[in-house]
Amino acid sequence: MDELFSRAALGPLRLRNRVIKAATYEGMSRGGIASRALVDFHRRLAAGGVGLTTVAYCAVADEGRTFEHQLRLVPESCTMLRELTRAVHDEGGAVSLQLGHAGTFSKVRGPNGRAPRGPSFGWNAYGVAAGLPFARAMDEQDVDRVIASFGDAASRAAELGFDAVEVHLGHGYLLSQFLSPATNRRDDRWGGSLENRMRLPLAVLERVRASVGRDLAVLVKTNLRDGFPGGLELDESIAIARAIEASGHADVIIPSGGFTSRTPFFLLRGGLPLDRMADAQPEWISGAAMRVLGRAIIDRYEFEESFFLPLARELRRAVRMPIALLGGLVSREGLVKARDEGFDFVVLGRALIADPELVLRMQRGELERTRCNACNLCVAETDIAGVRCVL
Ligand SMILES: Cc1cc2nc3c(=O)[nH]c(=O)nc-3n(C[C@H](O)[C@H](O)[C@H](O)COP(=O)(O)O)c2cc1C
Repeated sequence: MDELFSRAALGPLRLRNRVIKAATYEGMSRGGIASRALVDFHRRLAAGGVGLTTVAYCAVADEGRTFEHQLRLVPESCTMLRELTRAVHDEGGAVSLQLGHAGTFSKVRGPNGRAPRGPSFGWNAYGVAAGLPFARAMDEQDVDRVIASFGDAASRAAELGFDAVEVHLGHGYLLSQFLSPATNRRDDRWGGSLENRMRLPLAVLERVRASVGRDLAVLVKTNLRDGFPGGLELDESIAIARAIEASGHADVIIPSGGFTSRTPFFLLRGGLPLDRMADAQPEWISGAAMRVLGRAIIDRYEFEESFFLPLARELRRAVRMPIALLGGLVSREGLVKARDEGFDFVVLGRALIADPELVLRMQRGELERTRCNACNLCVAETDIAGVRCVL
């Protein structure tokens, strides 16, 4: 345990411990503008002792947003984000910015009002109420723009004082859509074979690394499995991890899983608070659809402690680079086991929403297990009053 809570290198960083706060969309950036609540949320986590906190789901481009209130790196956000990085540093922590692009899973129109774009043409159930029921295939210019947007966002993160960026290759967003055989049906150099499906995510990583040099750490969140038949499976996710390792552009991989458009609770497990999520929908029609169809189309998965460990262990064995364990880490015993199994870092989401001081309290011997019971009401709360534990 002491070893988990002592200083550790993550790429160029020296973290005060091996505990990372997972990106959990905060719901604290109305219109995409970072707020004081966002600063205070991360200040509190840093004061509670985490080594690295992560500002969630920042859109690298306006058309890469899933929804309107997702954090954007526009000038109006910058003052608060500078304050946020300073506040975390003052508390002795480090801070990462998660960079994502929604691809086809979006309610947001692109330039000139156009439909969301991703690897291939397809149905965009999430966009129906916003009048965007279909997504289109990206052309070469779109792909170039995506690569440039990730690079520019990473440079901006460095200017704002972030210590790290986390590139989102999982959960069914754009780069995950390119990786998945279920959503990438292209027959050009960006689709087909796994080598082709990996081309865009690897090009993005290369550009991000070129943008931040060796001053910032680069974390990569990937999928172990998409969680539905025909999606990405472990053999390919191991090949992807090997390619990331060979590229030399990432400092740690955080394996996760699930596809927000198809298996959103595969990455969470536990409660499925559909009524509360329906209440939080901004359009009545989305709320009504969630209430009526939700139970039929959204699968529930039983919560188990360290639920990704069996798959993540296989990935751990396949590569030498640092790997972090994420998913259902809720107790001191679970954290110790993660280290014993060779994981370099532990990444906690809901446990730290419930107990922002979890690290300090475990260090003092006051806490063995978080009070989080995986009810997932925090997921519904993000769109109502910002992410918080409702217990
Ligand atoms: C309220 C909430 C919001 C989340 N938002 C994001 C997000 O913005 N980006 C992301 O990669 N994962 C997101 N996740 C998933 C978490 O990062 C993590 O993968 C998941 O909660 C499993 O870890 P845990 O069992 O420690 O909570 C979110 C999870 C929760 C509970």
